[in-house]
This record gives sequence, structure tokens and C-alpha cells, in this order.
Amino acid sequence: MNENQGDRRSSAWFGLDSPTGLIHRSWLRNQGIPASMLDGRPVVGICNSWSELTPCNAHLRDLADYVKRGVYEAGGLPLEFPVMSLGETLMRPTTMLYRNLVSMDVEESIRANPIDGVVLLCGCDKTTPALAMGAASVDLPTIVVSGGPMLNGKFEGATIGSGTSLWSMSDDVRAGRMTMAEMAGVEAAISRSAGSCMTMGTASSMAAMMEAMGLALPQNGAIPAVDSRRRMLAHESGRAIVDLVERDVRLSALLTRSAFENALRLNAALGGSTNVAIHLLAIAGRVGVALDLDDIDHLNRDIPLLADVMPGGGRLMEDFYYAGGVPAVMRRLGELIDRSAPTVTGTIGDMIAGAPCWDDTMIRPMTDPIKPAGGIAVLRGNLAPDGAVLKLSAVTPALLTHRGPALVFDGVADLKRRIDDPSLGATADSVLILRGAGPRGYPGMPEAGSIPIPATLLAQGVKDMVRISDARMSGTSGGTAILHVAPEAAVGGPLALVRDGDMVELDVAARRLHLDISPEELAKRGAESWQAPSPVYTGGYADLYQMHVQQADRGADFDFLIGCRGSDPPPAY
Ligand code: FES
Ligand code: MG
Repeated sequence: MNENQGDRRSSAWFGLDSPTGLIHRSWLRNQGIPASMLDGRPVVGICNSWSELTPCNAHLRDLADYVKRGVYEAGGLPLEFPVMSLGETLMRPTTMLYRNLVSMDVEESIRANPIDGVVLLCGCDKTTPALAMGAASVDLPTIVVSGGPMLNGKFEGATIGSGTSLWSMSDDVRAGRMTMAEMAGVEAAISRSAGSCMTMGTASSMAAMMEAMGLALPQNGAIPAVDSRRRMLAHESGRAIVDLVERDVRLSALLTRSAFENALRLNAALGGSTNVAIHLLAIAGRVGVALDLDDIDHLNRDIPLLADVMPGGGRLMEDFYYAGGVPAVMRRLGELIDRSAPTVTGTIGDMIAGAPCWDDTMIRPMTDPIKPAGGIAVLRGNLAPDGAVLKLSAVTPALLTHRGPALVFDGVADLKRRIDDPSLGATADSVLILRGAGPRGYPGMPEAGSIPIPATLLAQGVKDMVRISDARMSGTSGGTAILHVAPEAAVGGPLALVRDGDMVELDVAARRLHLDISPEELAKRGAESWQAPSPVYTGGYADLYQMHVQQADRGADFDFLIGCRGSDPPPAY
């Protein structure tokens, strides 16, 4: 072999002066890769979650070519590989059922192959955490390139946002204020370019988290998918990964406690998705960073909503980018951000020093926020001993303290069947409860937690109610929805014991969620009436999921996937 072969990981394949080494090299020749490129230079895997069945990621095949240009330019060899992709809009029963599966695909694909560093191409909600979790369990030099948001939706002169505007129009249809024929034009108008949801849904929130954690280049979170600067970012990321490999900067060097703290604080200022809590807990578990729900509550306390992006605000990601994006928000957070935290190219301090804000109405100063609180509150009490989350930017102020009678739905099918039934008996004070929709219960923890307001109440003009569930909700949704209740009903959490008419008390300032029945009565119900539901699936991957998924307060990762299993090349035979 070429004497330039050093001790790179890929040399354990391509540097072998043996028939095995010849085989490793030979089959790459069939793609026209000459011997001169297998000379010990950094081999960069491009882990691509491209799929036409994941519409938000359908342009990632094209974006990969720009990453390759950068890798070649910096003297590396890029090799692109596909992983299972998760598209929110088409997959059933829910993409969350498959997040951990994709993380396994990513982890094993990276470790089993001759690569020295990896670029993660991701976009739609679950692909970002899944790829980050898998890569974190290998710990090679890694950089994230997000697909970027779609352009602003435009419909009959109005600006409309993915998810957020759809949910309010569907409520209008349910309340009889709009017809499906009137809504039909939205279909093309709301998804009019490549990219992911252009609200601050989970995809935009997670792309911003990757930037704030130092795993991506500046502006990764916000550049629209079709803006040529997204391609330039991909190109520059290709150059950057080669540099990371040369300097041997591993993912674990970036994923410090500070990285998680910075990210969670940013998420609060963005009014970002509650799903960020679950995904960051899972990523932290892979790298061994101590992080729990109490940390999340503490880090989010008193951080105002600064970014005027739906659903917390009124505008969209395209304008957010033009206003200055993530660096501008992080700069405005001032001392709340640890500037010494490392990034793929330097430090967070380098990234945000002098970061301009071009529109103070879009990215507000701390002294003039959109709302006083933008983050995630963690509630506890006898209904959620291990915690539940609530997006503060979405809460109706009048519901911050509330006492009302429970109205319980046993699973998503029961909810769908009865929610619009005129005999439901709901009042504006009712506390709507959906259970059996947690990680184990559904299984897969669907985004069903933004329980619809019953049609009869919608027609009366009721816009928000207290809702409680062990499910998640879309990052594009709002409302006083208490989510991720742990332990979930399907494992015997107290949520399983609530009966219609029980009084539920919410006190957000005290972070309290309470079922007003005695401990004795609760224990009696548990002993007399609770039975573990039988598994929904027998056999196959979903069976594995049911057996090993942890509760939401642990990030809903599989117990056996926690931790980093390293990047040592597996043995050859
Ligand atoms: Fe893919 Fe919203 S559906 S990001
Ligand atoms: Mg979503």
C-alpha cells in the first residue's frame, strides 16, 4: 500500500497489505475511485436520510453532492450511504416508533464501515435526533447538515405556516366556519418548496439545537432549503469535516453539558418544540452527559420568547433567517449562553460575537420579548410522579392555574370516536385526558397530545382547554397541553387511574399537576382496577420496542442503547 497510509481508522481496511485489503480496495474501484484516492486521506461517510417518502428530506440527495464538493476540495474521500428515513406526514402508526431503530441503523452503519468521520444529512423531525443518537454511540468526528425549512406558505394573500395554520383551519372546518372546498387551495400553498416545516416545529427546533450545540455550521438552523446559501453551507460542512478528522475532534468533545444547556436555553427563546426535551435527553444518554427533566425546567425558567415564529409567534423560518437566525438569538441571551462551548469550527463565542440582528421585531431584545416565558416547564405531582412537560409559550394565561373535572379518553381510537360527539358532556372547564398513548402504550408515543377542542365547544368559541396526556404533540401545535406524563398509563402510572369527574388541579407557577383524590383511594384503584394492557404487537421490531423502550423522562430510548460503544474497527475475517 501507499506509504502515506497512516493510522486512520479507514486504514484498518484500505491500508492492509493482504488479500483482505485488496478486496476492500478492489470493490471501490467499480465506482471509478482510483488507487490514488485510497492513500490514507480522510474517508468521510455521508449518512443520508434522503427519501421521497420523507418529503422534507427529498432534496438531501442533491445536497449531498455539495457536501462531497467540500470534502474533495479539502482532500478527503466522500462516500455516501443511505439510512432508513422517517417522514412525519406519511408514516404510520408514528415516526417515533422508529426513531430508535434508525439510530441503530446509523450507529451500526458507521461503525461497520471504513470511515474516519461522518456528515449527518437530516431534516424532518425524527431524522435529526435519530442520526445524532446513532452517531453519538460511535463517537467519530461528526457534523450535521440540516435540509432547511420550506419557503413561507402563501394562501389568498396570507402567510401560512406548516402545521400551525393547518390545525387552526381544521378547527374552523370542524366548527363549521370553513368548508373543505374553501380549504383545498392550502394543499399546494402551504408546501411550496423543498424543505421541512417552516414553523418552529420539531424539525426547525432540532436543526437549531444542532447549531447551538456546536455540531453544525452557523445558520444551519434557519437557511431555507432552496436558498443557495444552504448549498454553500453543505459545501463548507464538507470542508469542515475533513478538518475535524485531521484534528481528531470527536462528537463527545462537542456534546458537553454546556452544549445541552446552551441548546435548551435557545429552545426556550425560540418557543421551540416540547419534543426537544425528549430528544436531548436521549442524546445525552448516548454520550453519558447527566441531564434530567429538572435540569430542563431549571434551564428554561424565566427565558422569554424572543423569536416571532409560529406557533409561539406569528411569522416563519424564512423571515427568521433574514433577521439573523440562531446566532442572533444566542447573542441576545447574553450571559445565559456559555460562549466557551466548542463547535465544529471554534467556539460558540466565535459564532455569536458580533452576530447581527436585522429585524428587532422578529428577534426581540430581552427587554421587549414577545412573551415573558418561551420554554418548557416540567410539572410534577400525584398525576405525574416522574414529570410531564408543558410549552409555556403556548399556554393561555387564564389556564396557568386551573381546577376542573377530568374527561378521560382511553387511547387514540376512543378519542377520535367521541371527541366531536354532542353528548360528550365537556365544558370549557373540563380537563381532557388522553391515556394509553405513551411510549409503551400506543406503542410509539404519537403526536396526539394536542387533543382537539370538542366541536361543540369550538362552535361556542372555546379556543383552549387544559389537556393532559402521556403522548407527545407536534412542535407546530399550541395550547395548554401537558404532555409526556411519566410514568405512562400503560405501565401503571397514576394517569391510568383517573376517572371521569375526578378534579384535576394545575398550578404552572408551582409546577404542580394534582389529582384531587386521597392517596388511599388512588392505591385502592391501583390494586382493584388496574391491569397491564396486553401488547399491541406480537413479533417483529415493534415487539422489541415494547420490551425495551424507556419512559419519556429518560428520552424514550431503548434501555440497551444507552451509552457509547465506540468506533473501534470490528474484526475482519
Ligand atoms: Fe417534516 Fe414537519 S413534516 S418537518
Ligand atoms: Mg412535527
